[in-house]
Amino acid sequence: MDALKKVIVSKGSSLNGGIIKVDSFLNHRLDSGLIFQMGEAFAARFLQEQPDIILTVEASGIALALATAHALGDIPVVYAKKSHASNQNSDMAKETIYSFTHQQECVIRVDLHYIPKGSKVLIIDDFLANGEAVRGLMGIIKQANAKLVGIGIAIEKGFQQGGKMLRAQGLPLLSLAVIDELKDGHIRFRDTEGEI
Ligand code: G4P
Repeated sequence: MDALKKVIVSKGSSLNGGIIKVDSFLNHRLDSGLIFQMGEAFAARFLQEQPDIILTVEASGIALALATAHALGDIPVVYAKKSHASNQNSDMAKETIYSFTHQQECVIRVDLHYIPKGSKVLIIDDFLANGEAVRGLMGIIKQANAKLVGIGIAIEKGFQQGGKMLRAQGLPLLSLAVIDELKDGHIRFRDTEGEI
C-alpha cells in the first residue's frame, strides 16, 4: 500500500536490531486517516470471506482492527488481553507467545464467549515479525472451534520468519508493506526502496 510505505519512509526511523520505530503514526500517536485507509484495504481483500469477528492483540492492533471492522459493516472486534485481572471469566482461552522484540514470554487471553463456535475470524495486527502473536491468536481460534478466514498485517518484516511460515501453510495473508531489508537507514520494501 503506497500511502503506508510513504509514511514509513517519511516518518519512520530505524533502530538497532532490525526494529523500525513507527510511534508517530501507528504505535503511540495514531494517524487516523491512514489507519482508516488501511482498514479499507484489509476489508477489500477479505470481504468475500465474510468474517464475523476480527481478532487482534492489545494494544497497537486495536485501532487497525476497529477500522477494518467498520469498513466491513461494523462487525465486532475482540482483542486478546496481555494482563490477568481478577474479574476475568474462568472460560478464558490462553496461549503463551514469545516476543523476540521484547525477549520475553507473554500470555494472551480471550474470553471464549466472545468467539462463538464456528464463527469466521479475521486476524488483524500491526506487525508481523516471527509470527508469534499470529500463532497465539490462531491457537485461540482453534480452542474456540472457530475458523480462521484471513490474516491482515500492516507491516511485515520479511527478514524475519513469520510471513514465510504463514505462506508456507497456505494461509491467506495480506501485508500492506513488506520490509525485506532495514540497514543503516536504508529501507528495502519488497517492491520499492527508500531512506528512513
Ligand atoms: P511476532 O509476534 O511477529 O513474533 O513479533 P514480536 O514478538 O517480535 O513482536 C512483539 C511486539 O513488537 C509486538 O508488539 C509487535 O507488534 C512489535 N514489533 C515487532 N517488530 C517491530 C518493529 O520492528 N517495530 C515496532 N515498532 N514494533 C515491532 P507488542 O509488544 O504487542 O506491542 P503493542 O501492540 O502494545 O505495541
